[in-house]
Amino acid sequence: MIRSVLLGTGSALPRRAVSNAELAESVDTSDEWIVERTGISNRHIAEPDETTSSLATEAAQKAIEAAGIEASSIDLIVLGTATPDQTFPATATIVQNNLGCRGGMAFDVAAVCSGFLYALGVADSMLRSGMAKRALVIGSETFSRILDWEDRTTCVLFGDGAGAIVLEAQEQSGDEPRGILATRLHADGAHNQLLFVDGGPSTTGTVGKLRMKGREVFRHAVVNLAEVLKEVLEETGLTTSDIDWLVPHQANARILDATAKKLDMPAEKVVMTVGQHANTSAASVPLALDQAVRDGRIVKGDLVMLEAMGGGFTWGASLIRM
Ligand code: UT7
Repeated sequence: MIRSVLLGTGSALPRRAVSNAELAESVDTSDEWIVERTGISNRHIAEPDETTSSLATEAAQKAIEAAGIEASSIDLIVLGTATPDQTFPATATIVQNNLGCRGGMAFDVAAVCSGFLYALGVADSMLRSGMAKRALVIGSETFSRILDWEDRTTCVLFGDGAGAIVLEAQEQSGDEPRGILATRLHADGAHNQLLFVDGGPSTTGTVGKLRMKGREVFRHAVVNLAEVLKEVLEETGLTTSDIDWLVPHQANARILDATAKKLDMPAEKVVMTVGQHANTSAASVPLALDQAVRDGRIVKGDLVMLEAMGGGFTWGASLIRM
């Protein structure tokens, strides 16, 4: 059976780190409130010369290096983002040019915080169907550019960054095939007004700012994530105890704890980076994955569950044997 096997991971963060204390100098908030309600202590904020495409390119270069391949062998780039460099063309095409590869497919996927999971699902389908052989799947965001820095209920929660993986279509057999074993994706457009940006090319002609009813998003996130994780386990005939690592979307430490608890997943098996990166939307899952791969926690053969939930609402989960 053809599977999408992960060859390498990479990530990138803007140079400038901003602590809660620094934020509290300009916003009516406190380190205590942010840590207690979210688990966030720090986030990275892009400087003017750092963009979604520059962060994505750096993450992609590291993933390509880790995979030990030539950039020119990549024939598919799928980039999840809600903060593209330009309304068009797709940021993926800018990354393709930066990497010096040409002629393959390159496009963006807009599913906000679930953007990486959606990009992964699309790339996996294209690899397994034979449309491509080697894919770069990226999540990259500069949410700092769409935050209302006078709204303390949202601006303290987000950060900028990028994560990337290289996938290759490979014939896998045996009881424990490597690669993506199952992906489930969902959307429910009825909840648009709980998490959205109040602008866009076709409505206001402006970029707009992020608006969120946090408490309601929180409630939906815990329920939806627990359900989609169960769906993936059912599809693969595996149980929570088979999973070596849960790499969740990093929105709030309390959401991560509640989801792990619902699944009976011990906290030691949950990769948590929200404290240092805050919520980096589509970048959060591949950023956390790369960190756990590079620090030696996640190793070849491990069963790793990825999950995310975000604006739309959109949500999903994917199980990978590394
Ligand atoms: O990635 C996409 C998915 N997004 C999420 O998953 C976010 C989900 N939601 C959350 O993480 C949480 O709901 C928040 C962190 C956004 C908020 O936590 P909460 O425990 O739900 O707090 P709350 O919204 O109920 O606010 C409690 C209080 C309010 O004051 P009053 O009305 O009780 O007097 C807020 O005005 O905290 C106040 N508050 C703040 N205080 C200091 C809100 N933001 C701040 C702040 N600093 N930054």
